This record gives sequence, C-alpha cells and structure tokens, in this order.
Amino acid sequence: MGNVQHIAVAIDGPAASGKSSAARALAKRLGLIMVNTGTMYRAIAWATIQQGIDPTDTQAVIEMLGRIELSCGVENGFSTVFVDENNPGAALRQTAVNERVSKVAAIAEVRALLVQKQRDYLELGHVVMEGRDIGSVVFPNTPFKIYIDASEEVRAARRAAEGIEDAVGQRDAEDSKRKASPLVVAEGAVKIDTSEMTLEEVVSAILQVLRERGAPEDLLNRA
Ligand code: CDP
Ligand code: CDP
Repeated sequence: MGNVQHIAVAIDGPAASGKSSAARALAKRLGLIMVNTGTMYRAIAWATIQQGIDPTDTQAVIEMLGRIELSCGVENGFSTVFVDENNPGAALRQTAVNERVSKVAAIAEVRALLVQKQRDYLELGHVVMEGRDIGSVVFPNTPFKIYIDASEEVRAARRAAEGIEDAVGQRDAEDSKRKASPLVVAEGAVKIDTSEMTLEEVVSAILQVLRERGAPEDLLNRA
C-alpha cells in the first residue's frame, strides 16, 4: 500500500485532544507533509450547507459527491482542500459545520472517497496525518501510530479558549459509536494523555515513539 519508501505517522484521537497542534509541530521539526483529514470531512459538511442538503440524508449526500470536485493538495507542507474552485478556509470551523461533520463522516461512501485521497498523499513524501481512523484504516501497517487523548473537561476548555462553540462530547460520541470506521485506539498505537502536558512535551513523546520503532535516522536527525 502506498510508497514503501515514505513513512506515515498516524495520529488519532478525540476532538481538541491536540492532534493538529502536535502534527503541525512534528511536521515542522522533521519536514514532513502534515495532513489534516478532519478538514476533508469538514469540507463535505460545508458543501452540504452550500447545497441545502440534509447531512443525515445518506442518499442525497452520496449524490452530492458525484456533483462536486474535492481537490486535495499541499501548500507550504500543509494539506489543502478545495470544493470545486472554492477554498472554504475559516468557514470549516464554524458552528454549523461542527454540528454536521460527524453525520457526513458516518457515511461509508464519504469515507471511501476520502481514505483514497488520504493514501495518495504518501506518494508525495513522508507524512504525518491526523484524524480518527488513520492508524486503524488509512495506514494500518505503519508502525508509527499515536493515540492522543485528554480529559473531556480539558478538551472543552481548549475549544472555549479558542472562542469556538463546539459540543466536543457530542461529536466524540457520534464518532465512537458509528459503524463505519469508528474512533478506536488502533492496534499497536501508543497512547499519550496530553491533559497535563505542554505541546513541546507531546512532540518529544512522539519523537521518542518514532525512535523506538525504528524511524529512519536521517529523518530523526532533522529534529
Ligand atoms: O479538530 P477536531 O478534533 O475538532 O475535529 P477534526 O479533526 O477537524 O474532525 C472533524 C470531524 O471529522 C470529526 O468529529 C469526525 O466526525 C470526522 N473525522 C473522521 O471521521 N475521520 C477522520 N479521519 C477525521 C475526521
Ligand atoms: O486537532 P485537535 O482537535 O485534536 O486539537 P487542536 O486543534 O490541536 O487544538 C488543541 C488546542 O489545545 C490548541 O489550542 C492547542 O494550543 C491546545 N493544546 C494542545 O494542543 N496540546 C497541549 N498539550 C496543550 C494545549
């Protein structure tokens, strides 16, 4: 699967556990491509708003997938997502998207489309990819799997500190109980609870996992 010469670091965990921040910092340190897969699910949720589609109407969402073009690329080392010619940007973090995203993410056809695009990133270089099913479904064979967690209170407080209205507990429940690729601790993943950790400590812990699991020396030496 993918390009055997390129490594994938898989980071999964619940909302606001610190996945994106850790992945971004790690990508900068090691020169990896950072892929935020939540953004891709959010782009589909955003498109349902634009098109006035009920996110729980599976058939209508599947039909919409045939009408829109989702383009995933890289800019300055970070993944980008466009819906047709539009970059939804900050709109992807709006409350309406937060409320819909877990509903479209529960649709198997949505997941199949996005998982393929996620795997394609490995053709471009070494990647650190964060989401909910990266270690369990997207790259099940990578030895570099991290499950980042933090208490629900800490996670809700982090979102509130960012000024974002987000029922993280509700979204986690939907993400964990769905049939299609639920949020799980992937087999072989190392768990890190970030409740009491700084971002720098989290990055050091991830580097330690990469070292222990035999990541290439030339890559680790960049840190
Ligand atoms: O940043 P935050 O943790 O709040 O969420 P996100 O990573 O942007 O993901 C938004 C939503 O997309 C999640 O609540 C999941 O419903 C869905 N998602 C998923 O199902 N699988 C992934 N690999 C990534 C996100
Ligand atoms: O991607 P995910 O939703 O898991 O989390 P995030 O978007 O990285 O947001 C986590 C928030 O908690 C950010 O505001 C970080 O600055 C903060 N934070 C962290 O990520 N890691 C820590 N160890 C402590 C705080």
